Amino acid sequence: MEFWARMLNAAPPLFTQQRTQCRTAAWTRFSAGRLHKLIALLLLALIALHLAGVLAGLLLFKERLIGAMIDGQKLVAAALPNPLPSRPAAALAWCGLIGLTLATAGFLLSRLPPLGMPDIPADQAMLEECGACHRPFHPSLLPRASWVALMANLNDHFGEDASLPPARRDEIAAYLERHAAETWDSKAANRFATVSAAAPSRITATPGWQRMHHAIDPALFRSHAVGSRANCAACHRDADGGRFDPQAISLPEGTSP
Ligand code: HEC
Ligand code: HEC
Repeated sequence: MEFWARMLNAAPPLFTQQRTQCRTAAWTRFSAGRLHKLIALLLLALIALHLAGVLAGLLLFKERLIGAMIDGQKLVAAALPNPLPSRPAAALAWCGLIGLTLATAGFLLSRLPPLGMPDIPADQAMLEECGACHRPFHPSLLPRASWVALMANLNDHFGEDASLPPARRDEIAAYLERHAAETWDSKAANRFATVSAAAPSRITATPGWQRMHHAIDPALFRSHAVGSRANCAACHRDADGGRFDPQAISLPEGTSP
């Protein structure tokens, strides 16, 4: 189970170096959620087609379909003089081949980077400076305006002085703004794009974050293993890549929500 959870959840590597935005930009607008809905609709259409076929068989061709499913007895048209011989070994080989092809395709597809989450280049300055006090946050977790406000007030950063030399600050600000929530199509980016008016630079104050975490005991956030609501990586194994897949949630050992 754990193996498959991990395979299906192949999270994008932490800030990989390649630039693949150009390649992914157009088709990532077609998000995984929409694709999922489309496939569900397609499945419903196939079920409807199947039922229509059964009805046609029953009413138009007077076939004994439902009864045959129960007792296995079906009248075969007398005009079938030479039924094809059964070839169980060939049938098994075909089933095996088709199964193997589908499994391989499924495995390869699951290794593709998730839709809506392009790989972005690392910003060394951001990792170093912001990582000095807490694990750096993924730029997709706040909208552009919030990053602008946060980077303009580093001297009063949630009660800390996090000021930086102007050149360094500008470089990090440009990186955060370039990859802000508006440029992603992930659940986290979409939900946290609406910020709290009272604390527009806090991810944990956004109505989306509060809704997603309302069932969690506040004592868990204060616990020794977590320490703060903002310590996303304590519970989300894929926090650094910004994906926040439900499959990658694992609470610290010995704790429960
Ligand atoms: C001097 C230490 C320090 C540095 C450097 C620092 N931070 Fe912070 N940051 C904090 C503290 C303390 C908090 C509040 C944490 C909490 O409430 O648990 C915070 C909170 C945040 C939050 C809000 C988290 C939430 O609750 O949603 C964001 C976003 C953030 N920092 C971004 C940055 C960025 C971007 C940088 C780099 C430019 C940075 N920080 C550098 C100390 C620092
Ligand atoms: C104490 C552990 C904990 C911490 C810390 C935490 N989360 Fe979560 N988070 C959870 C749990 C548990 C859920 C699932 C809640 C549910 O489904 O009811 C969740 C759900 C989410 C989801 C929705 C996932 C989905 O698709 O259903 C997102 C996005 C998210 N968290 C982002 C964050 C961010 C960003 C941070 C840090 C600023 C954070 N979380 C901090 C435990 C945590």
